[in-house]
Amino acid sequence: MREAVRFEDQVVIVTGAGGGLGRDHALLFARHGARVVVNDLGGSTHGEGANASAADKVVAEIREAGGTAVASHDSVTDGERIVQAALDNFGRVDVVVNNAGILRDKTFHKMEDADWDLVYRVHVEGAYKVTRAAWPHLREQNYGRVIFTASTSGIYGNFGQSNYGMAKLGLYGLTRTLAIEGRKNNILVNAIAPTGGTRMTEGLIPPQVFEQLKPELVSPLVVYLGSGACQDTSGLFEVGGGWIGKVRWERSLGAGFDPRAGFSPEDVAAQWQRICDFEGAAHPADNLEALKEMMENLQRYAS
Ligand SMILES: NC(=O)c1ccc[n+]([C@@H]2O[C@H](COP(=O)([O-])OP(=O)(O)OC[C@H]3O[C@@H](n4cnc5c(N)ncnc54)[C@H](O)[C@@H]3O)[C@@H](O)[C@H]2O)c1
Repeated sequence: MREAVRFEDQVVIVTGAGGGLGRDHALLFARHGARVVVNDLGGSTHGEGANASAADKVVAEIREAGGTAVASHDSVTDGERIVQAALDNFGRVDVVVNNAGILRDKTFHKMEDADWDLVYRVHVEGAYKVTRAAWPHLREQNYGRVIFTASTSGIYGNFGQSNYGMAKLGLYGLTRTLAIEGRKNNILVNAIAPTGGTRMTEGLIPPQVFEQLKPELVSPLVVYLGSGACQDTSGLFEVGGGWIGKVRWERSLGAGFDPRAGFSPEDVAAQWQRICDFEGAAHPADNLEALKEMMENLQRYAS
């Protein structure tokens, strides 16, 4: 029999849970027994305004279904207040789902500092602030699960989304290091790159596909990653439309030059095909593995 994924006695923070993907994450965590802090500032997709009713509605939905939840109306940039809400209401925090987000799409040549800064502030600084405030509690109890919300726009790039792509892949950089630092305290950290039909993607995805990309099809992965059943850390998962796949770094075996003699740009050009050849490529899991070929090259030419 399959073991049930349950969260009795656990407290989950979901940021940006007043709508879209976050709402479905919060509902599913609650259905699996978690006490949930439903955080949402309630502003527009562009990051303007605020409205308490977004989070309140989701809390009401959870309570109507017999679950336990409280609302937090703070911005993720005031992350310590969101964590404080978890502590004040439930006395602990076990899982942090960094989901809140906005868009300020512009091609790079039209990018203004305000668009760049606001996207950075909500996605990166916000995720940092919430996670940083929760971290000592997770360490102290030797248990935690943290999920960051990246995007294929960060992994692969997307026209008009230089600010967003920067922020989203930045969150995966944060995931990798927190996974290393958190491991000894059983704090596992993963990232998702979701696709879902929400107000953020309305008009960008063709309507018939939009309908099929239901936000609730992303949440089972998030709830799994947030549970004790998940023993994976440092992962990046693309998810949407009922499909989940894992992403990893791949690096060619590369070309080596004599480090003592030095080499020229022409030497680089001559080896270009080999440098870019992914035949038998490596998949370094950490810095040490990544440096392996470089170290071997040094040894090869050492007297
Ligand atoms: N929908 C997709 O296909 C898709 C693709 C890639 C990544 N994402 C990411 O998934 C996450 C959820 O997006 P969504 O599609 O559900 O969009 P959404 O706009 O429906 O939800 C985002 C929520 O975040 C809240 N929010 C915004 N700024 C906040 C702040 N400063 N503090 C607290 N809450 C704030 C909003 O009020 C909103 O309810 C975002 O991080 C987004 O970048 C979504």
